[in-house]
Amino acid sequence: MSDACKAPSLFKAYEPYFRIGAAINSWKTDDPAYKALICRHFNSITAENEMKPESVLDREATLKAGDSVRTAFDFSRVDKLLAFARDNGIGVRFHVLCWHGQTPVWFFTEGWEDVPFEELVKNGFKANFASRETILQRQEYYIREVMTHVNNAFPGVVYAWDVVNEAIDPDQGNAKGYREKSAWFANVGAPDFILAAFRAAKKYKAPGQQLYYNDYNCYEDNKLPHILDLLKLLQAEDLVDGMGMQGHLLMDWPSVESCEKAARAYGALGLSLQVTELDIHCPDGSAAGQKALAERYAAYFDMLIRLKKDGIDVNSATFWGLSDRDSWLPGFRKSESYPLLFTGDLQTKPAYDAVMAVAEK
Ligand code: GLA
Repeated sequence: MSDACKAPSLFKAYEPYFRIGAAINSWKTDDPAYKALICRHFNSITAENEMKPESVLDREATLKAGDSVRTAFDFSRVDKLLAFARDNGIGVRFHVLCWHGQTPVWFFTEGWEDVPFEELVKNGFKANFASRETILQRQEYYIREVMTHVNNAFPGVVYAWDVVNEAIDPDQGNAKGYREKSAWFANVGAPDFILAAFRAAKKYKAPGQQLYYNDYNCYEDNKLPHILDLLKLLQAEDLVDGMGMQGHLLMDWPSVESCEKAARAYGALGLSLQVTELDIHCPDGSAAGQKALAERYAAYFDMLIRLKKDGIDVNSATFWGLSDRDSWLPGFRKSESYPLLFTGDLQTKPAYDAVMAVAEK
């Protein structure tokens, strides 16, 4: 056996249970140390941003083409990541086809007119929008083009699609919990835009690919029942395969018990589960702070293995970033954060040892 094959590896340790993933960016795959670490420890990747509509859509080319439904695409970053995954035998969970965030407002307007998203939020989602019918046609065209491009150019690489992200938000939602601050909600309405996205995804997916609904805080008491209702609605048409539990956690919230309770409720519907965006905001970089982080990760992975042993199909857990240097959390939380398993200079942390130890128990 070569030394590389004998080296400890997260994904090999978790092979009996589920895939281990990381959210990455295409340009970083040119860095040999970063690339080596990904290939050694992960058998799944997700694009942190590069597979989102704002990164895939090309407004200039759309305007030039002069059609009212068909958008133009720039697949260069998507292709770079998919080629990296294919060449290194790594699976991809594609994030994301339909989301209120990181989708340009021009996707929804008459004549592809551009409006800053913040302006929409300020004026209560008023703009020169195209008709509901046109927007639904654009949605189907977008999903068709993205899925067929990916599956034709990189057959067998994507194993799961996030079809819709974050459509439920009871704090800014309607009676059924659907998020109202969304151009999808304002123009098509919910659950209609969600059903339409899943119907299109089901039509264009390749055999064996799973379709996911993905959301954050999906263990919260005010959010969980609404998500369960939506999943049941999708299941009634056989449109959804799994629930994506984002999992951006804090050190003291939510409890692992509440994550487990929610996961069991999703599992009881007969759905597969994926932890899709795992990080634990930890502002304390001291040895004691990082030991506490390691213990929290251990309890979380213990819980995932318990679910798996109880027959719930947890099939991947994806960290949101590779090293502490890549994490979005310092920017988002406006605080220091040391949330992941690798340091900024790509050394393993106590949290890494703890997650490995859980698999090896
Ligand atoms: C949400 C989205 C992700 C990402 C994170 C923040 O969870 O689903 O794509 O944008 O926010 O990094």
